[in-house]
This record gives sequence, structure tokens and C-alpha cells, in this order.
Amino acid sequence: MAVRKPKVVVTRKLPDPVETRMRELFDAELNLDDTPMGPEALAAAMQRAEVLACTITDRLPAELIERAGPQLKLIANFGVGFDHIDVAAANARGITVTNTPGVLTEDTADLTMGLIMAASRRMVEGANITRAGGFHGWTPTWMLGRRLSGKRLGIVGMGRIGQALAKRAAAFGLSIHYHNRKPVSPRIAEELEATYWESLDQMLARMDIVSVNCPHTPGTYHLLSARRLKLLQPHAILVNTARGEIIDESALALMLERGELAAAGLDVYEHEPVINPKLLKLDNVVLTPHMSSATIESRIDMGEKVIINIRTWMDGHKPPDRVIPGML
Ligand code: DGY
Repeated sequence: MAVRKPKVVVTRKLPDPVETRMRELFDAELNLDDTPMGPEALAAAMQRAEVLACTITDRLPAELIERAGPQLKLIANFGVGFDHIDVAAANARGITVTNTPGVLTEDTADLTMGLIMAASRRMVEGANITRAGGFHGWTPTWMLGRRLSGKRLGIVGMGRIGQALAKRAAAFGLSIHYHNRKPVSPRIAEELEATYWESLDQMLARMDIVSVNCPHTPGTYHLLSARRLKLLQPHAILVNTARGEIIDESALALMLERGELAAAGLDVYEHEPVINPKLLKLDNVVLTPHMSSATIESRIDMGEKVIINIRTWMDGHKPPDRVIPGML
């Protein structure tokens, strides 16, 4: 007996193998030219889809979710962060929401470590100078950065990605400190030789490098406020691969401009894709375009997770990666 294929609207272009499999399994409407959907297009998609396979660039506030047709039963997000979806509003309308955790952990930790290295050793600045013809020979005092080994790294948010970063950083000789809602298990703390700070303020004031690895929730919006940023030591480096909204970006840009903070490595921005113009002018900031999970492997695995979530829902089971309001 032929299985009925649910109508799945896919909001952005996904890797070919993912799209092909989606076409095999579902009545999948693809977005082949990857034109981002604005609010009206998303509202229309939610009028015809049984499943909306959206991504982190699709803003789905309550007002939009309220316009969904009664046939919409699942929002299967391609991405781990779900701060762009009003999950409570979706659940209130009987719509399940899923995400893609776990599969992008290692790649995100790699890019975070890369930003720590690039910012502390001025790699992008050096590369830009070289390309622009500015390398006129080695000198004993030119392009000096800071050694990583022996420094303290403070991780804000010790979940999967924070722990994967800690493993990498330990191999570079950094000592691991972290702030989290609760301490990790004694086994993990011992393995990582990690020091727990209940007080974020206390930790920030003592670190050489700080990495933001917590999710964006109402509770973590501007967690690194202007006041908290001022607690950092002037030689400190700040790295963010989580969400831009967690840091007060204007305050950070001002501190970097004034030399009150040595450097930063940013992959995410408060008003993506717009970047504070001050940051764009600074040499002591490494800027990447929200690409921490941008490997072929991660993106195919993320698609695979979306498919598994949809298939499980089709079979009448609870999808494995259901998210619920306040779970973070
Ligand atoms: C996510 O999945 O939330 C990342 O930010 C994008 O890779």
C-alpha cells in the first residue's frame, strides 16, 4: 500500500542529498533558488504545509504562527538554535517543534577554537597585510600576539559545544573554567580539569579568553551586558559562536575600539546579517559569517535529523528532537 506523503515546505535550499531524500519520502516543495522567505511567504507556507522545514533565518513569532492553517502539525527546524520560533505559541496550536542537536557540535567547537587562535595570534590581520603587499620581511617586534598555552579559558555555557571546546582547548594547554546554570558531572569536571564558577562576574574578571557557548533565551539576552564586559581584563579575548544577542554588541564594539579589550572573534551578530559598522573597521576583531556548522558533513547530518523527525512524526510517534518552551 502506498504511504501518503505529507506536504513539506522547505524554506531554504538544503544540500542536494537531503533534498533528494525529501522528495523521495515527502511531497516536498523545495526552495531551489534559496530566496529567503519574508513574513508573508512564511505565513502562506504555513497555510499549505503539514510540515514546515524551516531554518534559523526564518523568524516565526506568535503573530505568524497564529496565521498557520489547521493542517500544519510540525515545524522541523534545520538548526539547533530555536530562538527564532515561538515554541509556546506553536505548541498551543498543537504544532510540534523539532531541532537538530548533536550533529554540529564538533564542527562548531572547531570553529570556536579557530577563532580563539586567529584572534590571539592576529592571523586574519596578518593574512590581510600579506595580501595587501605589506610584508616587508621578518622583524623581532612585528605582529606580536599572545600565547595560548598556560592561559585561562572561561566558557559561558558548558553544554555539548562548551564541552567539545574544552577538550580542544585543554590540548592547547589552556586551563578550563566555566559558568553554567549547574556544574557538570564530577566525571566530566575531572576529565576536563574544569573549574566551575557559580558567579559569571567572578569568572569574567579572571579569564584571559572567554567563549560564549550558551543558547539565546530570554534569560541570556545581553548576558554579557556593558557592565559585565567591563569586568573583562584589558588583555582578554572574547569569542562568540552561539548567538549575537547574548552580547551587547555596541558596548563590545566600543570597548574594542578604545582598546579596553584586546581582541574578539565573532561568528554571530546581534542584528544578523547586519554587522555593527564599528566592528567592520577594527583590526582586532576576527569576523566570520555565522559559519560554525558550515561543513558538508554537518549540513547533511542536520538534514538527516530533519528527515528522521518528520518520519517519526508521520509514523505517529514523538519525534526524537522535540523542543519544549523553557527547556534550555
Ligand atoms: C544552529 O544550528 O543553531 C547554528 O547556529 C547554525 O548552524
